[in-house]
Amino acid sequence: MLILGIESSCDETAASLVKDGREVLSDVIYSQAEIHSKYGGVVPEIASRRHIEKVLYVIDKALADANVTKDDIDAIAVTCGPGLVGALLVGVSAAKSLALAWDKPLIPVNHIKGHISANYVAFKELEPPFICLVASGGHSHIVYVKDYTDMKVLGATRDDAAGEAFDKVARVIGLGYPGGPKVDAAAKLGNPEAFSFPRAKTGDDFSFSGLKTAVINTVHKMEQKGEEIPVNDIAASFQQAVVEVLVGNTINQAGKVGTDKICLAGGVASNSLLRSEFEKAAKEKKLTLYYPPLRYCTDNAVMIASAGYFAYKAGDTASSDLNAYPALSLE
Ligand code: KG4
Ligand code: ZN
Repeated sequence: MLILGIESSCDETAASLVKDGREVLSDVIYSQAEIHSKYGGVVPEIASRRHIEKVLYVIDKALADANVTKDDIDAIAVTCGPGLVGALLVGVSAAKSLALAWDKPLIPVNHIKGHISANYVAFKELEPPFICLVASGGHSHIVYVKDYTDMKVLGATRDDAAGEAFDKVARVIGLGYPGGPKVDAAAKLGNPEAFSFPRAKTGDDFSFSGLKTAVINTVHKMEQKGEEIPVNDIAASFQQAVVEVLVGNTINQAGKVGTDKICLAGGVASNSLLRSEFEKAAKEKKLTLYYPPLRYCTDNAVMIASAGYFAYKAGDTASSDLNAYPALSLE
């Protein structure tokens, strides 16, 4: 079954063609990161306008790259939430129009389920159940993936998402947007024990706003005293605090649920310390660890086409009154 996936929930306009949920025929991403970097973060209005300009281009290119025509496509899957409402609406409108014009089924996809599905593309043998940590710019969830479409959230952030904290800290220490990869690189040159930043304990949930505030206060105090900001040490100490909590809570939930498989997903899953600390913990606890290559961690349409395939098999299709749902929940 060949599915056209469309993604436009934040600042990537993407389209892809994926066969049977796992085989990638094409993967086109137009990233707006450079445009938003001069504002220090994603500007929703600009994101929506740029999606409008690029959505048909990425779809055309996805078809051309896969060397297929509309007649070869079995269904169209699109991210309908969560995300920025104006941005989501562009992908949803394009998908609805094409589904109507080409007479194809329309499949609504939850963006977070998409992130999880990136693992099915990367690991052909991977099957649920497993525990998945989804950490991105908008979400930090520990999800019990019981089946391809049946999921339970075991823990989530009570305030900022992990990626959001990376982006804010990067801005405060002058590294710019997008912050995650820049903090990751700076941290490699710094001492993770230079500063003792808080690790919030909130039961099964995460909380990163206190940590973010602690970093901001540290930087402001040093600026007031006229001290030079030790950017690499702050990046390393902050990253250490985030990673310890993400790894600790996820391993803990795996123990509670009794699974031997852990998956990582979302932009923050590309973090090098997160990956290496998970490798260590998984080895110690005898768990099998999966994480997608960098391209499938951050936003893309391959993961949407993959999740769309499993949703379609479970009978989940939409009519042309499909809307965008900015706060769509996972369960
Ligand atoms: O999944 P994604 O592309 O978009 C959302 O659905 O939000 O994730 C983007 C987030 C950004 O906050 C970015 O700073 C973070 O993922 N990120 C990273 C790294 N690469 C991207 N965070 C930490 N370390 C990285 N290497
Ligand atoms: Zn995402």
